[in-house]
Amino acid sequence: MSYNTILTEVEGKVAIITLNRPQVLNALNDELMNELSSALSGFDTDENIGCIIITGSEKAFAAGADIAAMAKYGFDDVYRRDFISRNWEGIRKVRKPVIAAVSGYALGGGCELAMMCDTIMAADNAKFAQPEIKLGIIPGAGGTQRLPRAISKAKAMDLALTGRMIDAVEAERAGLVARIFPHAELMTEVKAIAKTIADMPLLTAMMVKEAINTAYETTLSEGMHLERRLFHACFATNDQKEGMAAFVEKRSAKFTNS
Ligand code: HXC
Repeated sequence: MSYNTILTEVEGKVAIITLNRPQVLNALNDELMNELSSALSGFDTDENIGCIIITGSEKAFAAGADIAAMAKYGFDDVYRRDFISRNWEGIRKVRKPVIAAVSGYALGGGCELAMMCDTIMAADNAKFAQPEIKLGIIPGAGGTQRLPRAISKAKAMDLALTGRMIDAVEAERAGLVARIFPHAELMTEVKAIAKTIADMPLLTAMMVKEAINTAYETTLSEGMHLERRLFHACFATNDQKEGMAAFVEKRSAKFTNS
């Protein structure tokens, strides 16, 4: 499949999607978000893929939603077509693990896109912000909801009310970012992490993702209930039998994703 605004490649069981509008620092317009949704759903249903990476360029993961496009919109345009719901919400439906590999700017919708992924790995030159307030809008792709869950209410208010940028170290300290790498090594390191995940039993990885994401969307008791049921379901898989047998027999497990 060929796209205009993203590049896709596959290395073993890892799919890599690179946002590719370099002239506008990967500003996220409708075409890019449609192509990203389409590529993600293709990899999600491809049984040879176990983990997906979304990345950008060295200078920008994504500098936000496309301001030039949004500048022309009125209330009627955005409300009538439910601007952003249609082509952004698809990302949340992906059931395999998705890693954001962030180098450079992840601003506004770029930061929100990274937060829609299951984890964020950052280069040491990464910069995160929710600067929408300076444009007279609020974050509209989950920033006001995911940021306080990721980094605390105090810090989310600080970022969204001032629009200030934080660097990778502050983002990691706040809990937004899982790990930081020198920018020249980011993709090598993230591909290695993605391979580690892709080599895990796939059904179990999907259950981990479903259970942890549910922690964001429900009560503790509902989340505990789902975790218990998924935990029980693991015992119906061949990979649970294989993983435990391999440990007992002191050999490497050969998972079959079944
Ligand atoms: C459209 C953008 C853009 C964006 C950069 N560009 N960000 N175009 N939408 N979000 C374009 C610039 O207009 C410029 O085009 C080119 O990319 C290079 O950018 P420069 O500003 O010249 O680069 P630099 O001086 O290095 O500054 C980098 C920057 C700055 C700090 C990232 O570009 C910036 O502040 N961008 C806007 C960041 C922002 O406000 N993001 C939030 C958007 S609102 P030309 O043609 O001049 O070369 C949002 C809402 C989400 O995301 C809501 C739900 C989807």
